[in-house]
Amino acid sequence: MTKAIDEAKLNRFVGQMLGDLGGALSVPLVRIGDRLGLYKALNAHGPMTPAELATRTNVAERYAREWLSHQAASGYLTYDARTGKFTLPPEQATVFAEPDSPVYLQGAFDLAATMMENEALVAPAFRSGRGVGWGEQSGCLFCAAGRFFRPGYHNSLVDSWLPALDGVAARLKAGAKVADVGCGHGFSTVIMAKAFPNSTFVGYDFHPGSIEQARLHAEQHGVTANTRFEVALASEFPGEDLDLVTFFDCLHDMGDPVGAARHVRQALKPDGRWMIVEPAAGDRLEDNLNPVGRLYYAVSTMICVPTSLDQPMGVALGAQAGLKKLSSAIAEGGFRSVRKAVETPFNMILEAQP
Ligand SMILES: C[S@@+](CC[C@H](N)C(=O)[O-])C[C@H]1O[C@@H](n2cnc3c(N)ncnc32)[C@H](O)[C@@H]1O
Repeated sequence: MTKAIDEAKLNRFVGQMLGDLGGALSVPLVRIGDRLGLYKALNAHGPMTPAELATRTNVAERYAREWLSHQAASGYLTYDARTGKFTLPPEQATVFAEPDSPVYLQGAFDLAATMMENEALVAPAFRSGRGVGWGEQSGCLFCAAGRFFRPGYHNSLVDSWLPALDGVAARLKAGAKVADVGCGHGFSTVIMAKAFPNSTFVGYDFHPGSIEQARLHAEQHGVTANTRFEVALASEFPGEDLDLVTFFDCLHDMGDPVGAARHVRQALKPDGRWMIVEPAAGDRLEDNLNPVGRLYYAVSTMICVPTSLDQPMGVALGAQAGLKKLSSAIAEGGFRSVRKAVETPFNMILEAQP
C-alpha cells in the first residue's frame, strides 16, 4: 500500500535535514578553525581577506578561502562582497573564540567528533547490551568533556551555584574539607580551590589518565597547596567529616548511583552538604523533546549509557534522568532531602542534605 505524502511536510523536513547535515559537516571545519587559530586571528585582527588570514595564521591561502567561504555560508562569519573581507561578529566570537564566555561551544564540537569515533564501539554494544568503558572510549573524550563543561563552571560555580546552597559559601570561605568526585580533568576542583584558599580540596576519579591531567592542571594554576587528586571509585573514595562533596556531571554516568550516594552520606559530617550538578532535564521524555534534550540524548546514547553499563550494577540513568529519578537514587542512599537549588539552560544544581 502506498502512503500519501504531504509535499509541504516533506519539503519542511528535507529543509530541516539540510540544516542538520550542514551542522554535522561543520564539525571538522570548526575544529580546524579552533586548532589552527583561525577564529582567534579573525577575532583579534579581522575583518580579513583569505590572503590576510593565511599570512596571519601561516596556512595555505587556498584552504583559507574555502574554509572562510564555508563559514560565511554557515552564518558563522559575514562576508563583504565589496571588500572581499570576512568578519567574525562579536556574538559568534563568544561561541568560537572566547574560552571564558558562558556560551563558548568549542568543547561541544570536540564532543561531537569523539562521538563519531565512538560509533565503532557503541554499535556492537547495541547488540550485546554491554557497556563501553570510559577509559576505552575514543579520542580525547576526557579533554572534550572537560572543555565542554568548563565555561559553565567558570561563569557560574563560584558566583551563583555555591551561594545557592545552604551556608556552603560561608563555610568554604572560613575553611572547609571538600571532595570533588568524578572530577575528570579537575576544572571544577581548581576553580573552587582558587576561589576558597582556606579550604582543602581532593578530586577523585576512577580514570587514572584524567587524574594525571588534573594534577598538571592544579600545578599550572598554582593551587597545589590546598588541592590534590587521587584515583578512586565514587563508592570507595577515602574521606570522613567532609563539609561538602561535589559531583559535577557524573552521577548519571556511574554504574551504581545509589552506592555512590550511600558512600557520600557516610563521608559527610552530619551537617555537611552534597552538591550534584546534572544535565538540565524534565522528568518525562516529552518534556525533553527540545534542542537541549536532543543534544543530551545523543551524548547519553554514545557516552553516558555505555559508561554506566560497563560498571557493576549498570543502572544507566542516562543524561536526561530528571529530578525525580535522581532524587530517588539520592534518597535511597540515605539523604533526608534533595532540592533543586539553581537551574541553567544546560544544568540543574541539586543540594542533598544528610
Ligand atoms: C562527563 S565526565 C565529567 C567530568 C568532570 N566532573 C567535569 O565536569 O568536567 C564524568 C566523569 O565521571 C567519572 N566516573 C564515571 N564513573 C565513575 C565512578 N564509578 N567512580 C568515579 N568516577 C567515575 C569519569 O571518569 C569522568 O571523569
